Amino acid sequence: MYEGDIASVLITEEQIAAKTQELAELIAKRYPADAPEGDLLLVGVLKGAIFFMTDLAKALPIPTQMEFMAVSSYGSSTSSSGVVRIMKDLDKDIAGRNVLIVEDIIDSGLTLSWLKRNLSTRNPASLEVVTLLRKPDALRTHVEVAHVGFDIPNEFVVGYGLDYAERYRDLPYIGTLDPKVYGGA
Ligand code: XMP
Ligand code: MG
Repeated sequence: MYEGDIASVLITEEQIAAKTQELAELIAKRYPADAPEGDLLLVGVLKGAIFFMTDLAKALPIPTQMEFMAVSSYGSSTSSSGVVRIMKDLDKDIAGRNVLIVEDIIDSGLTLSWLKRNLSTRNPASLEVVTLLRKPDALRTHVEVAHVGFDIPNEFVVGYGLDYAERYRDLPYIGTLDPKVYGGA
């Protein structure tokens, strides 16, 4: 599939599964199964986080509920501006809940920083972040992230939910794109 478009496999399916299990165990320790705030509420950021979100929910040994948000940041297709618009908001009130934002990737951090500020105004009991991937060299703002799967080089990646022009989300691994795909050399 996608013959020739993927330059290299950065993180294999097996590595993702092992890391998800590891993160799930760490996260579960922070939230008692019978917390007075109710079940942990996972807030997934569409669409990139869906694969990680469902695998994480299955790996978590505590009951969780799921909500989704879709945000779009103004900017080019491969870099974000920090100006964010809500395309789909949460269906439910999160006041008094333990909320865990589930992200696919933190690049500049601008989208997440905005999202955290936005959700914190809704008075959750707690608000933390888990992200599968982070590009430390691309960070442009400080944002507190409780759990990070993998720190990766500052390269555009696809697969396991991540897309380029809506393609490649269905790959079971994380890979880098051959520059020819986006009109490079
Ligand atoms: P910021 O820069 O605000 O952006 O942290 C985070 C969002 O940008 C997208 N993004 C990527 N998507 N491969 C992708 O498919 C990448 O390498 C990549 N880097 C950033 C993604 O939507 C993320 O939530
Ligand atoms: Mg995203």
